[in-house]
Amino acid sequence: MVQPVLKWAGGKRQLLDEIYSRFPADYEHYHEPFFGGGAVFFDLEPDGGTINDTNPRLVNFYEVVRDHPEDLISRLRGFNDPEANPDPEQRFANENWKGKDVEQYFYQQRARFNRRAYGDEEWPATDEDRIEEAALLLYLNRTCYNGLYRENSSGGFNVPIGRYANPEWVQADRIRAASHALADTDIRNEDFAYILDAVREGDLVYLDPPYQPMSSTANFAEYSADGFGREDQERLLETVQELDEKGVCFVLSNSGVMYEMYVDAGFHVDKEGATRSINSDETARGEVDEIIATNVPEDAREEKGQTSIADF
Ligand SMILES: C[S@@+](CC[C@H](N)C(=O)[O-])C[C@H]1O[C@@H](n2cnc3c(N)ncnc32)[C@H](O)[C@@H]1O
Repeated sequence: MVQPVLKWAGGKRQLLDEIYSRFPADYEHYHEPFFGGGAVFFDLEPDGGTINDTNPRLVNFYEVVRDHPEDLISRLRGFNDPEANPDPEQRFANENWKGKDVEQYFYQQRARFNRRAYGDEEWPATDEDRIEEAALLLYLNRTCYNGLYRENSSGGFNVPIGRYANPEWVQADRIRAASHALADTDIRNEDFAYILDAVREGDLVYLDPPYQPMSSTANFAEYSADGFGREDQERLLETVQELDEKGVCFVLSNSGVMYEMYVDAGFHVDKEGATRSINSDETARGEVDEIIATNVPEDAREEKGQTSIADF
């Protein structure tokens, strides 16, 4: 069992038992097409499947964790306290990308991260660039407010500095353990539909898409500059229907508003009361109901960790 390296909106640590209780007793390879912080993957430490996310910075991060863990750790050790003065040796020391003065080291790193705009032909050019990009992402994730990854409409990371007595951004043991867990994993940067070509009969797929908001205060669809709308939800349903036809097991978490869609499609669906740790507002938390849908029949599920919904 490995701890996730990044804190990510929609992290599934609180739902692990409920998710595992739908897993089949036997399966071949494990795949996770909406990886985010990868709470399930890291807890499970599977061998030989695929993970995927559309966010290229996130994908670069996990490739660096897998392939260059020691370089990443040593680069992270060179970072300074978020409240320190900006480093005069670094570019963008005096102003951020909007031309305003940068007064704290954290904002200097955020400006550096945002200047390295992905999508450029040159991004990320060399291994050194890729490691720098990954180190900046982890540093900002561990020192920003609430550990939230959020991009504005032009793809810029816009979360302010967090308030931590002792921010811990190196996390050497976690990085080494995560690197080990990722060693045999194929890491993709595609739309989730890649899964139809990546799976074989007998595989297991866990899907955790950006959630359709239940209310305006719980807009969990804002993980990245590309939203995940109703049409994507419909494509996702078609994709799991195809997985089902191929003899592949799937377990899917989603927002409560998708309940009927999965019931009508004939899958097993349960409602869960969610606790969304990313949202510090207690009232907003209670409003977000989740569902877990699966094609795994009850008698084919794993015994271990099985907890009936009725027990909650
Ligand atoms: C709910 S989060 C996953 C959280 C993850 N289960 C965890 O434990 O942290 C959803 C992820 O899907 C990614 N995503 C958004 N649209 C996608 C698409 N069309 N295909 C694949 N991934 C997508 C987002 O970048 C985000 O990281």
